[in-house]
Amino acid sequence: MSQVIKTGKAFEFTPENIEKAKVFIAKYPEGRQQSAVMPLLDLAQRQNENWLSREALEYVGEFLDVPYMRVLEVASFYTMYNLKPVGKYFLQLCRTTPCWLRGCDNLVKVCEDKLGIHNGETTEDGKFTLLEVECLGACTNAPVIQVNDDFYEDLNADNFEKLLDRLAKDDVPDHGPQIERINSAPEGGPTTLLEKAGDA
Ligand code: FES
Repeated sequence: MSQVIKTGKAFEFTPENIEKAKVFIAKYPEGRQQSAVMPLLDLAQRQNENWLSREALEYVGEFLDVPYMRVLEVASFYTMYNLKPVGKYFLQLCRTTPCWLRGCDNLVKVCEDKLGIHNGETTEDGKFTLLEVECLGACTNAPVIQVNDDFYEDLNADNFEKLLDRLAKDDVPDHGPQIERINSAPEGGPTTLLEKAGDA
């Protein structure tokens, strides 16, 4: 099981997050409120710079009246919860087959050469963390990297370097395809259904 970090700093929800937590809990049937552990862990993580300390895990357990160990079981099972600090820009780089066939190795190399980090590592300035993950579900626009909550798609070494340069300056580009492509339409525009009814 992952090592859990105790910071010595108490954690508690902000008043605004307490209200959000109550909304999440109210979605579950009577007697099943403990099932809100996942959204509450997510809420705690967002409040705590994108990771969960021991204090945050304990707080969520107390909030829901769930034993700490059961909260930890959930938090350590799902990769969406970070049990150690991560960079301001958390790069989840997809390594599954479509992204691999479309050159995700080049993106790993950019992280190594430009940022000096490998899988699971954070830059010294605390700006970037790299985590290699399985399919992010956006294979049509492979290769894909999730930066915090957003997908950046159709990446190559060149446009990925530019993306990192902008993020380093806290200039966050629009997410989505990073080439001339509308959403998941074919590169270069539509190739079928080009004529309107009545043409030809
Ligand atoms: S394989 Fe990378 S998003 Fe699906």
